[in-house]
Amino acid sequence: MWRAVVVTLTPEIFPGPLGVSVTGRAQERSLWSLDTVDLRAHGIGKHRAVDDTPAGGGAGMVMRADVVAAAVDAGLSRLGALAPETPRLCLSPRGVPFTQAMARELAEGPGALLVCGRFEGIDERAIEARGLKQVSIGDYVLSGGEIAAMAVLDATLRHVPGVLGAAASLDEETFSGGLLEYPQYTRPRTFEGRDIPDVLIAGDHARVSEWRLAQQRALTRARRPDLLTFSEIDNESETE
Ligand code: ADE
Repeated sequence: MWRAVVVTLTPEIFPGPLGVSVTGRAQERSLWSLDTVDLRAHGIGKHRAVDDTPAGGGAGMVMRADVVAAAVDAGLSRLGALAPETPRLCLSPRGVPFTQAMARELAEGPGALLVCGRFEGIDERAIEARGLKQVSIGDYVLSGGEIAAMAVLDATLRHVPGVLGAAASLDEETFSGGLLEYPQYTRPRTFEGRDIPDVLIAGDHARVSEWRLAQQRALTRARRPDLLTFSEIDNESETE
């Protein structure tokens, strides 16, 4: 069973969307499990303080190193013997970008421990001392790491064997092929005056494949030119 341990100030929002649909059914089938560790339970003093003002001044509050480390340690003890081999991530807009390749790799391991930051961030010493790898889900700032942790878990769980049933396909062509996916159509054949492209109706599979690849290249060039590798550009010039 693939094990997720999430360290958070708001454990009540988990599993959230992970508890329904594909991931929810997989959880029911014990293909993965979710444990949460409440950061507040590791807070300091009567008020269970988890944050304090930033050293050196500045706006906002920083999560205390001792509190975060204690919560991570509690998470590691939940993992038991698996703790040493389980990757430890910290969700942060300062992290390395999370990718489909990272999702696949995480799914191959025993699980993941994910630390969700709030406030202006986490004391750097806790990140260093507990070997947390900082990961970002995109170039925008969320109010906390929880939604990012859910995104990382959802993308990862799809790669855990058995999570996607036989009927659903692990259709990751968009990123594994390095191009965005082609547009899809289904019934009705005409919708508000718009027809399904003729090539998709004609039944010539070779032409369908050609059309789809051309669409993928055009979309990727327009929307995500950063994804176009040299080899893809080369391939394109060969067939033109
Ligand atoms: N926490 C706040 N913003 C984030 C982001 N973009 N990615 C990961 N964690 C975050």
